[in-house]
Amino acid sequence: MMDSEHLLEYALKARENAYAPYSNFKVGAALLASNGKVYTGCNIENASYGLTVCAERVALWKAISEGERAFTRIAVASQSEPPAPPCGACRQLLWEFCGDIEVILGNDRGHREAHHLADLLPHPFDRSLL
Ligand code: THU
Repeated sequence: MMDSEHLLEYALKARENAYAPYSNFKVGAALLASNGKVYTGCNIENASYGLTVCAERVALWKAISEGERAFTRIAVASQSEPPAPPCGACRQLLWEFCGDIEVILGNDRGHREAHHLADLLPHPFDRSLL
Protein backbone atom coordinates (compact mmCIF):
# COMPACT_ATOMS: atom_id res chain seq x y z
CA MET A 1 0.00 0.00 0.00
CA MET A 2 1.43 3.33 -1.07
CA ASP A 3 1.84 5.79 1.79
CA SER A 4 0.85 9.46 1.68
CA GLU A 5 4.35 10.81 1.25
CA HIS A 6 5.02 8.55 -1.70
CA LEU A 7 1.77 9.64 -3.36
CA LEU A 8 2.66 13.28 -2.76
CA GLU A 9 5.97 12.68 -4.51
CA TYR A 10 3.97 11.62 -7.58
CA ALA A 11 1.99 14.85 -7.31
CA LEU A 12 5.14 16.95 -6.99
CA LYS A 13 6.56 15.23 -10.07
CA ALA A 14 3.34 15.80 -12.05
CA ARG A 15 3.47 19.46 -11.02
CA GLU A 16 6.60 19.85 -13.12
CA ASN A 17 4.42 19.37 -16.22
CA ALA A 18 1.94 22.09 -15.24
CA TYR A 19 1.08 24.51 -18.02
CA ALA A 20 0.44 27.69 -16.05
CA PRO A 21 1.88 30.66 -18.00
CA TYR A 22 -0.93 33.00 -16.86
CA SER A 23 -1.14 32.40 -13.13
CA ASN A 24 2.35 30.96 -12.64
CA PHE A 25 0.65 28.79 -10.01
CA LYS A 26 1.67 25.21 -10.72
CA VAL A 27 -0.33 22.33 -9.28
CA GLY A 28 0.16 18.57 -9.45
CA ALA A 29 -2.21 15.82 -8.38
CA ALA A 30 -1.89 12.08 -7.87
CA LEU A 31 -5.01 9.95 -7.46
CA LEU A 32 -4.58 6.51 -5.93
CA ALA A 33 -6.99 3.81 -7.14
CA SER A 34 -8.03 0.93 -4.90
CA ASN A 35 -6.01 -1.46 -7.06
CA GLY A 36 -2.82 0.51 -6.34
CA LYS A 37 -2.58 2.33 -9.67
CA VAL A 38 -1.70 6.03 -9.59
CA TYR A 39 -3.18 8.57 -12.02
CA THR A 40 -1.45 11.93 -12.14
CA GLY A 41 -2.48 15.33 -13.44
CA CYS A 42 -1.32 18.93 -13.63
CA ASN A 43 -3.18 22.16 -14.21
CA ILE A 44 -3.52 23.16 -17.85
CA GLU A 45 -4.31 26.80 -18.47
CA ASN A 46 -5.65 28.52 -21.57
CA ALA A 47 -5.40 32.04 -23.00
CA SER A 48 -9.18 32.24 -22.62
CA TYR A 49 -8.63 31.71 -18.85
CA GLY A 50 -12.05 30.12 -18.35
CA LEU A 51 -11.05 26.90 -20.10
CA THR A 52 -8.31 26.24 -17.55
CA VAL A 53 -8.47 22.76 -16.03
CA CYS A 54 -7.29 21.96 -12.50
CA ALA A 55 -4.70 19.29 -11.78
CA GLU A 56 -7.18 17.23 -9.74
CA ARG A 57 -9.66 17.12 -12.61
CA VAL A 58 -7.03 16.03 -15.11
CA ALA A 59 -6.02 13.15 -12.83
CA LEU A 60 -9.64 12.19 -12.23
CA TRP A 61 -10.59 12.25 -15.91
CA LYS A 62 -7.54 10.17 -16.81
CA ALA A 63 -8.56 7.55 -14.26
CA ILE A 64 -12.26 7.49 -15.10
CA SER A 65 -11.55 7.29 -18.83
CA GLU A 66 -9.31 4.29 -18.19
CA GLY A 67 -12.20 2.50 -16.49
CA GLU A 68 -11.16 3.11 -12.89
CA ARG A 69 -14.02 3.51 -10.43
CA ALA A 70 -12.63 2.99 -6.91
CA PHE A 71 -10.22 5.31 -5.15
CA THR A 72 -8.70 5.71 -1.73
CA ARG A 73 -6.62 8.88 -1.68
CA ILE A 74 -5.56 11.95 -3.63
CA ALA A 75 -2.44 14.06 -3.14
CA VAL A 76 -2.28 17.67 -4.31
CA ALA A 77 1.02 19.53 -4.59
CA SER A 78 1.35 23.28 -4.97
CA GLN A 79 3.65 26.14 -4.08
CA SER A 80 1.48 27.97 -1.58
CA GLU A 81 1.91 28.14 2.18
CA PRO A 82 -0.26 26.57 3.51
CA PRO A 83 -0.63 24.11 0.61
CA ALA A 84 -3.66 24.64 -1.64
CA PRO A 85 -6.74 22.46 -1.22
CA PRO A 86 -8.90 21.41 -4.21
CA CYS A 87 -11.24 24.14 -5.48
CA GLY A 88 -14.97 23.83 -4.84
CA ALA A 89 -15.75 22.42 -8.28
CA CYS A 90 -13.08 19.74 -7.95
CA ARG A 91 -14.36 18.80 -4.48
CA GLN A 92 -17.77 18.16 -6.01
CA LEU A 93 -16.29 16.10 -8.86
CA LEU A 94 -14.10 14.09 -6.50
CA TRP A 95 -17.12 13.39 -4.29
CA GLU A 96 -19.02 11.97 -7.27
CA PHE A 97 -16.42 9.35 -8.03
CA CYS A 98 -14.37 8.95 -4.87
CA GLY A 99 -16.67 9.66 -1.93
CA ASP A 100 -14.98 10.39 1.35
CA ILE A 101 -11.37 9.80 0.29
CA GLU A 102 -8.31 11.06 2.07
CA VAL A 103 -6.93 14.33 0.67
CA ILE A 104 -3.21 14.91 1.19
CA LEU A 105 -1.98 18.47 0.63
CA GLY A 106 1.64 19.41 0.27
CA ASN A 107 3.99 22.03 -1.08
CA ASP A 108 7.52 22.15 -2.33
CA ARG A 109 8.73 23.32 1.11
CA GLY A 110 7.77 20.17 2.99
CA HIS A 111 4.45 21.32 4.50
CA ARG A 112 1.99 18.40 4.65
CA GLU A 113 -1.69 18.18 5.67
CA ALA A 114 -4.20 15.33 5.66
CA HIS A 115 -7.94 15.88 5.36
CA HIS A 116 -11.07 13.90 4.56
CA LEU A 117 -13.10 15.02 1.57
CA ALA A 118 -16.27 15.02 3.70
CA ASP A 119 -14.71 17.73 5.88
CA LEU A 120 -13.74 19.80 2.81
CA LEU A 121 -17.20 19.36 1.26
CA PRO A 122 -19.74 19.32 4.07
CA HIS A 123 -23.39 18.63 3.24
CA PRO A 124 -22.70 17.57 -0.37
CA PHE A 125 -25.19 17.30 -3.18
CA ASP A 126 -25.05 13.82 -4.67
CA ARG A 127 -27.05 10.91 -6.08
CA SER A 128 -28.54 10.09 -2.67
CA LEU A 129 -30.75 13.19 -3.11
CA LEU A 130 -31.98 12.43 -6.62
N1 THU B 1 -5.59 25.06 -9.56
C1 THU B 1 -5.50 23.70 -9.56
O1 THU B 1 -5.00 23.09 -10.51
N2 THU B 1 -5.97 23.03 -8.48
C2 THU B 1 -6.44 23.62 -7.34
O2 THU B 1 -6.79 22.93 -6.40
C3 THU B 1 -6.51 25.08 -7.25
C4 THU B 1 -6.22 25.83 -8.51
C5 THU B 1 -5.02 25.79 -10.69
C6 THU B 1 -5.98 26.43 -11.63
C7 THU B 1 -5.15 27.55 -12.21
O3 THU B 1 -4.40 27.05 -13.30
C8 THU B 1 -4.17 27.91 -11.11
O4 THU B 1 -4.21 26.82 -10.19
C9 THU B 1 -4.53 29.20 -10.37
O5 THU B 1 -5.84 29.19 -9.92
